[in-house]
Amino acid sequence: MEKSNILPTHIGIIMDGNGRWAQKRGMLRSIGHRYGTETIKPAISFCSGKGIKYLTLYAFSTENWKRPSYEVDTLMSLISEYLTKETAEMKANNVVLHFIGDIDKIPQKARATISWAEKETSENNGLNVNIALNYGGRAEIVMAAKKIASLSKQGAVSEDDINEGLISSLLYTAGIPEPDLIIRTGGEKRLSNFLIWQSAYSELYFSDVLWPDFKDDEFEKALDYYASRKRRFGGL
Ligand code: FPP
Repeated sequence: MEKSNILPTHIGIIMDGNGRWAQKRGMLRSIGHRYGTETIKPAISFCSGKGIKYLTLYAFSTENWKRPSYEVDTLMSLISEYLTKETAEMKANNVVLHFIGDIDKIPQKARATISWAEKETSENNGLNVNIALNYGGRAEIVMAAKKIASLSKQGAVSEDDINEGLISSLLYTAGIPEPDLIIRTGGEKRLSNFLIWQSAYSELYFSDVLWPDFKDDEFEKALDYYASRKRRFGGL
């Protein structure tokens, strides 16, 4: 089998290293996030071009609120700015935008832009871009557990109904296939609470490249790695 034919259906990315990228250049960390945001568009084009169906980007974790407020504010503004600037092109390119996470806690202005962008692209059927915002894997599992408690109280589920399928259907990612490949840039080798339920069988690819430098050639390396892992499976 040609390795180029073995593509993941769903790729998750932990876009790490913006701060260090900026600091290495004597710039403020928030400038790194701006360059990091500019790397999202080529990543979306790359995945669209390959015919990948789902791309989930970790934009802001439930833990990121602990960062200095100017950095939190910068990230929120960058998201609104990105959506305002890029939604028309994403719509034209058949991208479907979807946010996962506890969006209710996001500042109202950003939330309004998010709802607008999701609605604008909702009729498309190409690459599904999920943006994880105020997202935490453990919080997501707690949310599912609470929903089960409430359904149980209403008599809608019994103990025997509780299985992996039920839990999956109550997560933000309900209906989205599990990620085949998770990429983390920036050199750290951990999942940091990203899709922890969904990644039980994902291939993990760690790159030392900082996210603002993660361009098509680096993406190709991640896909080559994925294809080689799949080939090994095939040989068993
Ligand atoms: C990690 O780098 C990155 C983040 C916490 C934010 C990632 C967000 C973006 C790239 C922008 C999102 C925008 C849209 C439109 C979805 P870091 O700051 O932890 O870097 P460091 O490890 O070098 O400190």
